[in-house]
This record gives sequence, C-alpha cells and structure tokens, in this order.
Amino acid sequence: MTAMLEARGGALRAVAQAQPNIALIKYWGKRDIALNLPVVGSLSITLDALWTRTEVSFEPELTVDRLLLNGREETKQLRRATACLDLLRARAGVDWRAQIVSTNNFPTGAGLASSASGFAALALAGDAALGLGLTRAELSVLARRCSGSAARSIFGGYVEWALGQRADGEDSVARPILDAEAWPLSVVVAITSTAEKEIGSTEGMNRTAETSPFQRAWIDTQEADLAEARAAIIARDFERLAAISEHSCLKMHALALAARPGLLYWNGATVTAMHCVRQLRAQGVPVFFTIDAGPQLKAVCLPSAAAAVAAALRAVPGVLNVVETGLGGDACVLDVPELVAE
Ligand code: PMV
Repeated sequence: MTAMLEARGGALRAVAQAQPNIALIKYWGKRDIALNLPVVGSLSITLDALWTRTEVSFEPELTVDRLLLNGREETKQLRRATACLDLLRARAGVDWRAQIVSTNNFPTGAGLASSASGFAALALAGDAALGLGLTRAELSVLARRCSGSAARSIFGGYVEWALGQRADGEDSVARPILDAEAWPLSVVVAITSTAEKEIGSTEGMNRTAETSPFQRAWIDTQEADLAEARAAIIARDFERLAAISEHSCLKMHALALAARPGLLYWNGATVTAMHCVRQLRAQGVPVFFTIDAGPQLKAVCLPSAAAAVAAALRAVPGVLNVVETGLGGDACVLDVPELVAE
C-alpha cells in the first residue's frame, strides 16, 4: 500500500453513473475472447433516461470482492467485476478487496445493454475510488475488457468503437463522434419480455463465428456500413441513418439466425413491433428500429415523433412497457450522497 493511499485512510470509495448505449452499426463477433477484441468496428448512441449507478468501496478488512446488484448478492457477474477491479488494482498497486453496490433503473440482462452501462460505471467508479485519473480512452479500453459494448458507454452522444489492429487491443477503443445536443434524437424502447436472455452475447457470437456461413460477408461489409452511418450522422440525415441502421440490425440477426442451431432473439411482439415501425415510416413518420441480442425493440426517431411512436408501440400486442429517452452524456462520477438519495 502506498503512503498516499494510507494517508487517505479508511475505505477508498466513489460512485459513478453510466447509461446504456444502443448500437446502430452492430458489434457481433470476437477476434480475441480474453481481451474482448471485436471482429468489426461498431457505432452507437448513448441513452439518457436509463442508467446504472455503481458504488465501489475498496476496504482493507475485506477478504473477497462482493457485488450487490439491484439489492441482491450477485455471483454470476462477480467474476467479471473482479477481473475489472484487478486491472485497476494492478495499476494502483493496491490489493484491497471491494464492495460493489450497483443499481439499474431498468431490467437487467434482458437485451437493454445493462452490461454496457454496468461495466462502464464500474470502471469509472473504481478509477475514481483509487484516484488513478485514467483518461477516457484508457477507461474505454478497461471497460471493453469486461464487456465489449461497455467501451462505448464511457462516452455520450454518438460513439464509434474502433476495430483496432494491435494484438494487445490498446487501439480498440471508443471515441465520441458527435455530442448528443448536436443532433438530439429520441429512442422509444418497446419492452416485450423482462426475462433474462437464454443465450448470452459471448456464447452467441462464438456459435455464430463457428457455424454461420455468413460470417465472412459480415466482416467484409462492415467498414462500408460504418462509413455510411458516420456520413449520415455528420450530415444529420435521418433517412440515411435509418436505412443503414436497419440494414445493420437485420444483417446481424440474419448472420446469427444462420448459426447452428440458429439464434432467434425475437419473440412475436418484437416482429409485430418491427412491422409497426415500418408502417409508421411509410406514413412519413421519421422512425427506424434496431434490436440487439434480446427481444426488445428500440425505435429511434426525431423528438417531434416520439409521442406518436410511443403510442403506436404501446398498442402492439405483447408490448409490456414503453420507455422514452433522449440521448445522454458521458459516464460521470457522482457525489456519494446522490446514490443514497435515489
Ligand atoms: O458487449 P456485449 O457482450 O454486451 O455484446 C453486445 C452485442 C450487441 O448488443 C448485440 C451489439 C452491440 O454492438 O451492442
């Protein structure tokens, strides 16, 4: 233990918040499983109203890390959380174990990117607790090692996670491409199930890479999709972004559907909601859908259309709940009392 840390005395504690992100150009497939390096770059939007708040407290008396997730002792995610904190502990030269208390204000593990916000919040809270002062890029690399998409939740607005070339992954990092305020879109999430998904993304990606006949085409076409989405965002061209985003979503699902056995993440309500969004668009409503490795549909629209989109999705049979959000900012450190106050 360094004299500096001893001088701070007691527990080393911080709280951070991060929001989930939704990929418009999808990440699917790992080229290095241990380091969580992707086979493709990806591009996302960070949300505003959904969040994870995580307190990390390194304490000299603890003999093991502990994780309380939504008020319950959690063992499934503990190994990954410990791996994340181990990377921070190694940098700080600290071996104290930690108590992690994490809360999501939305369903966990159900295709709403809780691992993205969760590991981004954990990386930032751990960094702040240890006083490491990592850069945003370093935090993104660290979060990526725990959950790939978490690399993007370090930043707000429109974010691109680079494929990178290096074997150690240090250049496979997210960077912001446009602030949320520069083009404030709305997202309407149609929740069609709150059950935890049966096949996690790592298992799904590995099965896809091993068995889907479309894996090569997926990798070969991604750069062009990224360039198209980037250009649409810079030009604030909604129709162009809608076309390329729905294409990327459907391509990722087609790739996964063609694995053996096929990965079918949608339920009936998801498909009905997809038709609903397409009908709205045909009527001139500026909206498109995207869906991750779960049954929730995320409708992205211009803010002026959000109320109509939410009403239409709420009326879809099988849609249990609808959550409206704008685009949010960077992950941030909170004052400790803020967590307690909620
Ligand atoms: O990083 P993970 O394990 O949460 O995988 C995310 C995969 C998708 O959500 C389906 C796509 C993406 O880019 O977020």
